[in-house]
Amino acid sequence: MRPSSATRARRRPPAARRLLALVVLLAVLGPLGLLGATPPAAATSACPNGLVALTFDDGPGPHTAAVLDVLDAHAVPATFFVLGSLVERRPATVRQAAELGHEIANHTHTHPQLTRLSNAGIRTEIRRTDAAIRAAGVTPLPLLRPPYGAWDGPGGRVARIAGELGYRVVTWNVDPTDYRASTAQIRARVRAGLQPGAVILLHDGTGNAPRMIAALPGIIRDAHDRGYCFGVLDARGEVVASEPGAFRDIADSPHRAAIEQLAEAGITQGCDPPRGSRYCPDDEVTRGQFATLVVGTLDTYGRSLPDALTAAPSFVDVGTDSAHAAAIARLAEAGVTQGCDPPAGERYCPADPLTRAQLATLLAVVLDLDVPPPDERHPPTQRFLDVPPHTVHASAIGALHDAGITRGCNPPDNTRFCPGQTVTRGQLASFLVRAVRDG
Ligand code: NI
Repeated sequence: MRPSSATRARRRPPAARRLLALVVLLAVLGPLGLLGATPPAAATSACPNGLVALTFDDGPGPHTAAVLDVLDAHAVPATFFVLGSLVERRPATVRQAAELGHEIANHTHTHPQLTRLSNAGIRTEIRRTDAAIRAAGVTPLPLLRPPYGAWDGPGGRVARIAGELGYRVVTWNVDPTDYRASTAQIRARVRAGLQPGAVILLHDGTGNAPRMIAALPGIIRDAHDRGYCFGVLDARGEVVASEPGAFRDIADSPHRAAIEQLAEAGITQGCDPPRGSRYCPDDEVTRGQFATLVVGTLDTYGRSLPDALTAAPSFVDVGTDSAHAAAIARLAEAGVTQGCDPPAGERYCPADPLTRAQLATLLAVVLDLDVPPPDERHPPTQRFLDVPPHTVHASAIGALHDAGITRGCNPPDNTRFCPGQTVTRGQLASFLVRAVRDG
């Protein structure tokens, strides 16, 4: 075990004073932008100087398993920027890394210099790698590290195309050139580069990886000795603590607070259970996920489902081993859903997405809201430009709006509802939290 920070400070006061001077210097340099965009992570008592991150590029390869062994032995998390072409050859390695708590991010498919590719070429490199990681059963962290660090800046072509695909471009700030250095050089160069928020570039996918792996235990020891802990990158590219149950892809989501509330209440484990490091806020909600989230929310907050109106149908496309079977059955028994093929009621289509209009109607029933029947003589107020009165979901949309549960789809004006758009997991979190907010 490492000695406590207090023990270290007593034993080595000059080092502590030097560190204090360094922290002050960093505090001055930081606001001037001399340290790049990554702010130092908050320090905790176990990590008085904050967090640093190990990142590994160009894998998965024959040496990746040895890297995972060292990290596992020291209980240190890392972020792997993988090549899609290699993920296709070693999907099990990537899956294992994710299961051990490491992050998986995108380093392109074939390691080209992106600035030399066409827009379509850049898109293909990012997309194929994203698909390969997902095919391995892992949700990628939406970060793109361009090979050779070659990009054209935050406003440039690479960043814009990456952004269109949901990815953010990140690089590093400590580069020991481990792909061509000795073990001693690698360790010394990393030690010299340690600073709060340091993102250390290493390579598990090159032929020199054995020298890097030999340096890893020393690198970890040096950082711990200097009061740093190891974190992982989050979706902003910042170094954060690797806490189980903390979603790393919601930092920029407008639905963050609602998602965190559902997670803290144990209602969601995110989109990659049982790891729970992702919520996938921009992914579509499936009808199955909707059932589980809405039933879980009502149960947790002591709200009951409507009384049963009908005998529950049993859907031929919802197996008893489905993760959502119990919740779907509850909704069916309560008469909330008759499936996706009314009036037959034979199928629920658990993998289908929900539109915002469909969600409004389901939620209005679940929450037992007062939904006035259409009345031609007294047309209801038109609350959204794109929801004409007397259309099939208009009353429910109006009722949810009046209950403060949904807003529009074009904030801050919210003049439109976008009834045909699919609901994202983030939006559903906000709807549910608003639905139970006032008891
Ligand atoms: Ni690379």
